[in-house]
Amino acid sequence: MDHLIIDGGCALNGEINIGGMKNSALPIIFATLLIEEECIIYNVPIVSDVINSVEILKKMGASAEFVDKNTLKINTKSVGNEIRGYDLISKMRASSYLMGAMLARFGEARLPMPGGCNFGVRPIEQHLKGFSLLGADTNEENDFIEIKASKKLKSAKIVLDKISVGATINIVLASIFTEGVTVIENVAIEPHVDDLICFLNIAGAKIIRVGRKIYSEGVNKLHSVQYKIFPDMIESLTYMTFVGACTGDINLTGINFEHIRYVTSLFSKMGFQIDSFYDEVRVKVKKKPLGISVETEPYPYFPTDLHPQFASLLCFTTNGGIIKENIFPTRFAYVNELIKMGANIKNINNSVYIYPSALQGACLDATDLRAGAGLVCAALGTEGKSRINNVNYIVRGYENLVGKVSSIGGKIKLIKGDN
Ligand code: EPU
Repeated sequence: MDHLIIDGGCALNGEINIGGMKNSALPIIFATLLIEEECIIYNVPIVSDVINSVEILKKMGASAEFVDKNTLKINTKSVGNEIRGYDLISKMRASSYLMGAMLARFGEARLPMPGGCNFGVRPIEQHLKGFSLLGADTNEENDFIEIKASKKLKSAKIVLDKISVGATINIVLASIFTEGVTVIENVAIEPHVDDLICFLNIAGAKIIRVGRKIYSEGVNKLHSVQYKIFPDMIESLTYMTFVGACTGDINLTGINFEHIRYVTSLFSKMGFQIDSFYDEVRVKVKKKPLGISVETEPYPYFPTDLHPQFASLLCFTTNGGIIKENIFPTRFAYVNELIKMGANIKNINNSVYIYPSALQGACLDATDLRAGAGLVCAALGTEGKSRINNVNYIVRGYENLVGKVSSIGGKIKLIKGDN
């Protein structure tokens, strides 16, 4: 089993270039199903979820190749109405975007229940509610979902009962060719939602987001597009937790500071020195940070996708803190791994209480993507060697993590195989 060996305890210094946002790249790749012409997408992160999404579209008949390291050329003209690549679909949450995209293009979609990171039930009733209001019939049976519109989809007013990134994106995709204006209320406003909207608008869609409302006026056709994906805010915030755990001075390039303004203001309260300049941010941490308590909420507030990394960071603070998880209440599998390192941490209901303690190196199992990144943070901040198994989770969402951490002085190696 591939694993990471980290010899922690070094300060981190240097520069890292932040890649494109995984959670934008995934819907944008599936959105190319709505454009039966060539699309060139820049700043595509090379992570396994992205590679698998491209693979699914290729199995369905698309032509797709990386023409440069992070540049994807893709044309879905030859795709038929049959969804293929079931094994990959059941591993990935983002394959749920096939529902909205195929419904818009072919009026139907039949696929296995999308998989995803392993932190509890991930319902899709808000997605299905949107499709029904647009005029499609939906049916879930034996772990398969079938969505079918007997006639052209109609525009509708859809009020989401719960803020959901996936439902917002799926309903936007499904609304593209309807007649009239679809209004979606109580939408997610994560930067990846806006990234998808920008991509679709450049391809000819007519979508406007005003606060938590999206207006999507149906069009007849989308056209060829060249588009650059937004920078990955979770990647940049993850590296900030690493420098917080280790101390040091790093410069992150290629970022959009607006997307990380709220969380960096919390880092400043913890004693990080943060200076932003155009698309760069310099982060200096000279001594143990001060711990603070946070709760996860939809954007623009503290993201659930930073929860495990922040938990590890809190172990290295002067006073610890509490994290309350409001989005995925069972996202705590990492807690037992930190306990193996000697962390003084307790999970009670949907909160985790973290008290400062001296950690020691240990053999750890990544239990999902962000939990894996959290363990990397803990191992980097701890003197001595740690081993992290299940690297396959971490490569789902961090491009060249080993190269990037090494370039700022972290002692980290990817070992292929078991020994
Ligand atoms: N929810 C429902 N019903 C629905 C849809 C969602 O109850 O029909 C609930 C969920 O159970 C959860 C909350 O609403 O409690 C938010 O879920 P959301 O739909 O926003 O999550 P998602 O679309 O499944 C995306 C990201 C996740 C990220 C969440 C929250 C992708 C591919 N995934 O998931 O990213 O944690 O939004 O921001 O974009 C990750 O990158 O590590 C990751 C897990």
